[in-house]
Amino acid sequence: MMPDKILEVKGLSTYFHAGAGTVKAVDDISFDLPKGEVFGLVGESGSGKTLTALSILRLVTPPGEIVSGSIIFNGTDIMSMDRNVLRKIRGSRISMVFQEPSSAFNPVFTVGYQIAESIIVHQTLDKRRSEELALEFLEKTRVANPERVYHSYPHQLSGGTKQRAMIAMALVNSPELLILDEPTTALDVTIQAQVLDLLEELIDRNRMSVLFISHDFGVVAKMCDRVGVMYKGRIVETSGIEAILNKPLDPYTASLVESVKALS
Ligand SMILES: Nc1ncnc2c1ncn2[C@@H]1O[C@H](COP(=O)(O)OP(=O)(O)OP(=O)(O)O)[C@@H](O)[C@H]1O
Ligand SMILES: [Mg+2]
Repeated sequence: MMPDKILEVKGLSTYFHAGAGTVKAVDDISFDLPKGEVFGLVGESGSGKTLTALSILRLVTPPGEIVSGSIIFNGTDIMSMDRNVLRKIRGSRISMVFQEPSSAFNPVFTVGYQIAESIIVHQTLDKRRSEELALEFLEKTRVANPERVYHSYPHQLSGGTKQRAMIAMALVNSPELLILDEPTTALDVTIQAQVLDLLEELIDRNRMSVLFISHDFGVVAKMCDRVGVMYKGRIVETSGIEAILNKPLDPYTASLVESVKALS
């Protein structure tokens, strides 16, 4: 039987062993992501959101270390997975849009080439079909002039266009789980709203399972079905988005909700 949850994180802890002491960046967190749900992780800067995402893909590097926990992806524990198997999963069955858009593309290759390469690596398609598919996905993210974007180097594109191209690359192998880490934070406000609308549409249409990370409760409220609130490495509250907006139980959550209401 196929599990109804795409992701189950149980007791995950990721620490940094720094000089004198240990920083508990992620401190014994647990959450589930049912298939087809958009689950948000929200919390202030430094609360451990990115480290949670990196842990799920086992991309934490020394002095950081996953010290305990299990990460069950579609029934299989990522923690005990062979590295080669995991490498094949990254960018195909699980893909991630990183917080820092400039670091995501390699500066020496065109954007289209890199998207096509990702297809060639993960699917059994020939070069020509992969190039067509890369262009199709750029079209899906509604960049102005997809052909031009395809043949551009990353530095030739605006932040918003680059982020759309990143989203195209993340979707091109039809991932079962999409992780979005602050996908619009680096963009200015108007562009941010456009990219969020695009993401919402693509997630809806493809019924995607998404882990959506943001420090912005307003963004999370728009995008997510359920949310876990992180504070100092811990999840202090998990709830449906309506429930948490109307009746936050944790005092830290309440302060986040208040600040969003004050803005709107
Ligand atoms: N290379 C590192 N060495 C030591 N500590 C680190 C390192 N990277 C992250 N940390 C610590 O881990 C904690 C969690 O960081 P993380 O990047 O997950 O936060 P975040 O919630 O994503 O914040 P932001 O909203 O700013 O992106 C922070 O307290 C940070 O100081
Ligand atoms: Mg982060």
